[in-house]
Amino acid sequence: MENYDELEEVIDMEIKKIGVLGAGTMGAGIAQVSVEAGYSVVLIDVVPEILAKAVKGLNKAWARAVEKGKVTVETVGNYNALLISSTDINDFKDVDIVIEAIVENIDIKKKVQKQLGEICKPDTILATNTSALSITEIAAATNRPDKVVGMHFFNPVPVMKLVEVIPGVVTSDDAVQAVLELSKKIGKEPVVAKESPGFIVNRILIPYINEAANVYQEGIASAEEIDKAMKLGAGMPMGPLALADLVGIDIVLAVCEFFVKEFADSKYRPSLAFRQKVRAGHLGKKSGKGFYDYSK
Ligand code: CAA
Ligand code: NAD
Repeated sequence: MENYDELEEVIDMEIKKIGVLGAGTMGAGIAQVSVEAGYSVVLIDVVPEILAKAVKGLNKAWARAVEKGKVTVETVGNYNALLISSTDINDFKDVDIVIEAIVENIDIKKKVQKQLGEICKPDTILATNTSALSITEIAAATNRPDKVVGMHFFNPVPVMKLVEVIPGVVTSDDAVQAVLELSKKIGKEPVVAKESPGFIVNRILIPYINEAANVYQEGIASAEEIDKAMKLGAGMPMGPLALADLVGIDIVLAVCEFFVKEFADSKYRPSLAFRQKVRAGHLGKKSGKGFYDYSK
């Protein structure tokens, strides 16, 4: 693997304007930290209500920061001036990077990334926040596979310091270096990982969450007891089932299914609890119900 720390080439990919595609759990957080770092951000989602909810959520977070004396009202005004929200993907035509954070489905990601390649400037980097999928496969669907990079943020984005940076087989060193620089400028600690299903964190974390769901499904303990046990007995900041709800049970299931397919190993078989909850629309926090009820 390249030692990216030692690359001293002049980078002609300076990023000034960022496009974020998908204004859900991750897209909203990525837009937030980017704006807070002083970047112009175009945030796009196909669903106008989700876009409006995201902008409202960001302003709620910033209002809390004002209350806590962390930022001024004027700074929040500047954040809003840097943020453009839109439902028209053509508004990405002048961005320097697109960070795609849409549904974890390879066919949809390939279709959308191809479209991004047709809309964006020739030197725009196409980053994907995929949790597990192949960067090389997504890259091959575009007109610029050398500029496609995995840029994997963690939830909640404003709190978690890590960004995994994943080059595909033909990703250029310049594109990787530009994403490493950007990650640092928005206050994150990047770690480069070779392409492999789930990269580093999810390869380890998702089987752990899956096993917790199996313990729940077998009736060994309730969700509350499992989470309490892992917090008090293993020092976890939150329990694995609350974490599944935070991540989105649809995403955890998609990653487990991808692991089974890619590694051809049944040890990754998703818990029935995930399938039942996704079938019921109980996706976790974002839908109001998962292992816990968030409606009250
Ligand atoms: N958005 C923004 N900020 C948040 C937040 C959110 N959703 N939740 C908490 N915070 C902030 C709070 O405002 C608070 O900030 P201040 O200290 O500045 O006031 C700080 O985080 C601590 O919050 P709390 O005291 O309320 O809560 P906590 O100490 O219990 O921490 C937590 C909450 C950070 C979520 C913690 O429980 C934690 O680290 N959990 C594990 C999260 C994790 O593992 N994430 C990775 C998921 S996997 C993934 O993302 C990859 C994937 O592809 C699926
Ligand atoms: P989410 O369901 O909260 O949001 C996805 C958003 O994408 C939705 O608002 C949807 O309307 C939008 N969308 C779907 N198709 C679109 C399209 N063609 N154009 C524009 N917008 C479109 O999902 P999320 O949790 O934010 O996850 C997004 C991506 O980030 C996934 O690849 C996921 O695996 C990854 N990820 C998720 C987490 C997590 O903890 N949730 C953490 C790291 C990475």
